[in-house]
Amino acid sequence: MESVTKRIGVLTAGGDAPGLNAALRGLAKAAQDNYGIEIVGFFDGYKGLVNNNARLMEHADFSGILHEGGSFLRNSRERPFKDEAKVQKMIANYHEWNLDCLVVLGGGGTNKRGFWLTERGLNVIGLPKTIDNDIFGTDITFGFHSALEFCTDAVDRLHTTAASHQRVILAEIMGNKAGWLALYAGIAGGADAIILPEMPYDIQKLKAHIDNRMKNSHSQFCVIVVAEGAKTPEEAELTKKELKNKRKEEKISAAYRVSRELNAISNYESRVSVLGYLQRGGSPTGYDRVLATQFGAKAAELLYRGEYNQLVAAKGLEVTSVPLAEVAGKTKFVPKNHIAVQSAKQTGICFAD
Ligand code: F6P
Repeated sequence: MESVTKRIGVLTAGGDAPGLNAALRGLAKAAQDNYGIEIVGFFDGYKGLVNNNARLMEHADFSGILHEGGSFLRNSRERPFKDEAKVQKMIANYHEWNLDCLVVLGGGGTNKRGFWLTERGLNVIGLPKTIDNDIFGTDITFGFHSALEFCTDAVDRLHTTAASHQRVILAEIMGNKAGWLALYAGIAGGADAIILPEMPYDIQKLKAHIDNRMKNSHSQFCVIVVAEGAKTPEEAELTKKELKNKRKEEKISAAYRVSRELNAISNYESRVSVLGYLQRGGSPTGYDRVLATQFGAKAAELLYRGEYNQLVAAKGLEVTSVPLAEVAGKTKFVPKNHIAVQSAKQTGICFAD
């Protein structure tokens, strides 16, 4: 392969997810070894680009990290576009390092900010990372599979304790805007009900389903998976700001809210388990390591060819790319008629919608 001399910056932004290190390694090995591309690593996501917390990376920086969770470049939820002075600093640092392109590894917010940087004249390539799997333009994101494996195991474990005590247990799974992780973990773990942000729940329908199961089945227990962004039909009518204020006042998370509502209208005492940050921690699964490596290598190829301002994406079994301009700021929601929802309903899982 012909060797070109380019220099790129790389950062990992937003919440961490298993597979970030694998993607960095895939990108670096392919970019350095095949195309002679130099890599500047910015620490702490966009915060590092603002503050120029960066250094030229060595080959060795990307060795021995394939299996490690988190990101060795660290993450932050810095939102630099709230302050024009920060935007100017990012642009200046990009030019000071003499970069040909910036590669951002992150979720919807990260890629949106990457797109905004392209509007300011920088070259950017995005890599889709999130346990939420909600990035528009790609079938799958890395981190999702690892989180799914963890959540499935958690739902399995809740089953045995729920069965022993004949309880109703609600498992809260991450996913504020989109419920992919709750949907898949609910199906994989054999949940009795799944509550998703995309399908506002009717508490009476949920109660009826639980009552029915308690009365008519051999199993006098229930496991319910609740996505972090679960809402009632009334809440679905609220503006983003109104809902945010309501949540601030309530001070309790989704599964606790559903549990409280259930307890108010029934005589079974429901219990809650919030899976929390355990879902984002730990080693990536084999699947995520492969996916992240493919995404990283694809980004290196785009860099070599000078095909900038793209989001690396999976379409079917292909790894490809889509223009950032077409996907930035959009969310991939669970469609109500998605095959996973349909098959879950056919196998008796209640969505209370
Ligand atoms: O986007 C990943 C995610 O884990 C979401 O599922 C969750 O809503 C959010 O991040 C939590 O964010 P934070 O790390 O800021 O608490």
